[in-house]
Amino acid sequence: MARKIVVAALVAGLAAAAAARDDGPVPEPEPIGTMSELMIKLMYPASDAILYVESRAPTNEVEWNELQAQALLLAESANLIMMPSRVVGDRDEWMRDARLMFDAGAAAYEAALEQDLDALIALNEQVYMSCVVCHRRTRPDYGRNYKRFDDPPAAASPPVEEGRARNGPR
Ligand code: HEC
Repeated sequence: MARKIVVAALVAGLAAAAAARDDGPVPEPEPIGTMSELMIKLMYPASDAILYVESRAPTNEVEWNELQAQALLLAESANLIMMPSRVVGDRDEWMRDARLMFDAGAAAYEAALEQDLDALIALNEQVYMSCVVCHRRTRPDYGRNYKRFDDPPAAASPPVEEGRARNGPR
């Protein structure tokens, strides 16, 4: 009896989902957030998790899991900004710059999967530079507002507030 109800609910659910599906033109990836929103809400915290890994080293499986998620997000964010409609300026340059973030994020994800703290620390500069290279090229006012852009990551001051550092590359 209970099983019949479950099956009926499932069939009804599928019908509703099918009705909601758009059978028009085949969907393509489509942006939801602006470039600025992706940077601030995804890349910035994801890269901070790597850049401050030394002072916030994961101590258990749950924390390693969280760090892995941040590293994966960093790597996959590169794919998000490589979406054709998101390209800013010259496409080839944009793709090459985004690839730097892809490589840095992918390496960080690999190191996080292996729970290799030293490897993550060693990746700091690569992560940092992957942001800076594109910013220097695409943001005309870059470096004027954010004077620290040439500092190596080690020179960055430690996060002031817990959980929400404002010291990563901006
Ligand atoms: C391939 C190019 C590219 C890469 C790589 C890139 N950015 Fe950006 N970033 C931009 C552009 C373009 C803007 C300006 C967006 C706007 O204002 O519309 C920007 C803006 C920003 C901003 C300021 C957003 C605002 O509105 O105040 C932050 C913060 C930021 N990026 C963080 C990062 C971090 C952290 C990384 C590296 C992990 C990174 N970005 C990598 C292109 C890039």
